Amino acid sequence: MARINDNYLKLQAGYLFPEISRRVSEFTTANPDASVIRLGIGDVTKPLVPAVLKAFHEGVDEMANGKTFHGYGPEQGYDWLAQVIIDKAYKPLGVDLKASEVFISDGSKCDSSNILDIFDLDNKVAIGDPVYPVYNDTNVMVGRTGEINTEGYYEGLVYMPCTEENGFTPQFPEEKVDIIYLCFPNNPTGTVATRTQLKAWVDYARENESVILFDAAYEAFITEADIPHSIYEIDGAKECAIEFRSFSKTAGFTGVRCGLTVVPEELLGTTANGEKFSFNKLWNRRQCTKFNGVSYPVQKAAAAVYSDEGWAQVKEIIDYYMENARIIREGLTAARIQCFGGVNAPYIWLKTPQGMTSWDFFDKLLNECFVVGTPGSGFGPSGEGYFRLSAFGERENVATAVARIREKWGK
Ligand code: MLT
Repeated sequence: MARINDNYLKLQAGYLFPEISRRVSEFTTANPDASVIRLGIGDVTKPLVPAVLKAFHEGVDEMANGKTFHGYGPEQGYDWLAQVIIDKAYKPLGVDLKASEVFISDGSKCDSSNILDIFDLDNKVAIGDPVYPVYNDTNVMVGRTGEINTEGYYEGLVYMPCTEENGFTPQFPEEKVDIIYLCFPNNPTGTVATRTQLKAWVDYARENESVILFDAAYEAFITEADIPHSIYEIDGAKECAIEFRSFSKTAGFTGVRCGLTVVPEELLGTTANGEKFSFNKLWNRRQCTKFNGVSYPVQKAAAAVYSDEGWAQVKEIIDYYMENARIIREGLTAARIQCFGGVNAPYIWLKTPQGMTSWDFFDKLLNECFVVGTPGSGFGPSGEGYFRLSAFGERENVATAVARIREKWGK
């Protein structure tokens, strides 16, 4: 009989968001009349904007004509999309990239997992706590860890607690690490890194010859000036960082699927013999073997995000979500619930009232306010006692959710 990958058995519960869906669906089955508002998973609610939709339709129409039909595309994505991204998303930040350094994909969740393929299992990995669960779980799945301990940490990973005391900012690991996951604007805490803080990480990585896996999926939601949108705004970052970006939240592509990963040519690792080798070449090799690229109409739609018309329309929706974030943040603060994030990120990280555990608050919020959020402890042990609300809802639902919470806790 074939042996399973036992590493999967080390994983504790089901993946966080399906687990929440399961509980919500149990609740709605038992309470069919409850008008449940979902602010749990960060899934967008606004449809694709007209400029993107037009390009998407045109892409589909081209597929219907033998003369303009597209079969397999380049595994790395079409050069024209990479170039648009470089010109519109990176050049304005003062970042110069080559098309060969930008790999188009079906989203940054997949890329931030798949990237582990090009790193040796012996690398020491540091992740934040709380953290986007994908970084933790995929390291367990590939066999980089031992079992989970009683505190909820996997043996073999280095955790960087992000707490109220340190402003939810990861501190440098005490032991030397080879790979560091950073996510800014942060999911789940909604905090950002300043230029000085990012520079310190780049300096640290260069000194220690580590690689930073920089998840910038939420960069479009930054509202404050001078907060870096890309790690490559910091000198020297191309020698030590891989960056992930996504069209999911930026342009409503959660169901369409498109993202990108930047692997600079300057970024080198070492072989078993101690020779230097390019991660860009390895990622390219990996993608060519395991990935067949993103569909042509989707890439056409993604390019339209960066047309003048497309960007103006997309920006309006980003502003809409950020207004939701303000409503949640200010509404809950008025109810004396302590809130973090929500200024440069579409997530509000709140301290559970009356010292409730994250899951107790989840149950109470669902049962008494019919509002779904995400328990902080689902993102790691340091998330216990916290809770995440997403700002991606419809305005009316967001306002109703806030009113229900204020009614319950604001007196
Ligand atoms: C989240 O809610 O954290 C995200 O939507 C999950 C994801 O992007 O995979």
